[in-house]
Amino acid sequence: MVSTRAMGAAGPRVFSGVQPTGHLTLGNYLGAMRRWAEVDQHRGDAVFCVVDLHALTVEHDPARVRRLSRQAATLMLAVGLDPQRCTVFVQSHVDEHARLSYLMECTATDGEMRRMIQYREKAARVTARGGSVRLSLLTYPALMAADILAYGTQEVPVGADQAQHVELARDLAVRFNQRYGPTFVVPKATLPGVAARVMDLQDPTSKMGKSEQTRAAGIVYLLDEPDVVRKKVLRAVTDGGSAVAYEPAERPGVANLLSVLAACTGGDPEGLAGSYGSYGALKEDTAEAVVEVLRPVRERHAALAADTGYVDGVLRDGAERARSMARPRVDAAYRAVGLLA
Ligand code: AMP
Ligand code: TRP
Repeated sequence: MVSTRAMGAAGPRVFSGVQPTGHLTLGNYLGAMRRWAEVDQHRGDAVFCVVDLHALTVEHDPARVRRLSRQAATLMLAVGLDPQRCTVFVQSHVDEHARLSYLMECTATDGEMRRMIQYREKAARVTARGGSVRLSLLTYPALMAADILAYGTQEVPVGADQAQHVELARDLAVRFNQRYGPTFVVPKATLPGVAARVMDLQDPTSKMGKSEQTRAAGIVYLLDEPDVVRKKVLRAVTDGGSAVAYEPAERPGVANLLSVLAACTGGDPEGLAGSYGSYGALKEDTAEAVVEVLRPVRERHAALAADTGYVDGVLRDGAERARSMARPRVDAAYRAVGLLA
């Protein structure tokens, strides 16, 4: 079972996803989506998913999740994913994810779920607001492992914050295979060389995250107008002193700008540091570089958003293709654990 291929492409099977929990950000783009479009869909047999079931792990407004799911799918096409080259779909359209997630819950332990950094951080935030932590927030990595393992995935292109979850998916694949016989391919995360963790412009010690509505000034959204992007970058918090140096621990604000600039222009952050004498010039160049990188995405998004019939059609075809890729492996896993599948 371990090595089935669906589309017959020569490269590795790639799977990744994005949650419809907020408007997508520059972090999503530089950390993950740009590589999906520029590299992964050309190299291999790639599958990209709007992981809407994951969006239900925290308090949510149904109408907003619906709207953001379509927007995320539209943006995946706007960044350049080509439905002729790769599979684009919505997680809840393919039952195999939830079906396999249960087997992953039966493979993972309570302890390893509770150790996940993202769970601890998100649970602490929910609790601090006086809310209740949904059980699905704890079991989230089991669903994510199911997403990955259902497709025989070899590579998972993600930002640094997801490396621990992919590591857990690896552990679960190995454990399942040892217990029940070879069923799953053991995946690995692939991270970008620069900008694997884009930081909030107003608080460069925390990740630029799309669902932090209170800090919108520190978040560049993919659909922000150029003037809004400029304003946000020019107002980025920098650090004490004035020499431009790449020192992420001591000068996280400047290091973040250098990483973003490097990611947008193809340079490297240390090298770029040497060519700036002031924070002001660095901010100006970074702002312009971000505006230029986002320009084509905004333009394509506008064209695609005007044609919802097209996007819906892509998602329908994508779900059908995804289902046929995932089904045999999930059936095999059901049989392997002793179910009369
Ligand atoms: P999410 O927004 O959590 O659904 O993330 C979708 C993808 O974007 C994942 O691969 C994340 O690792 C990546 N990502 C999200 N935020 C950032 C960030 N600030 N820097 C780099 N990558 C990110
Ligand atoms: N948990 C990921 C995030 O928050 C999203 C995700 C869900 C994902 N399933 C996945 C990413 C499978 C890669 C592969 O970013």
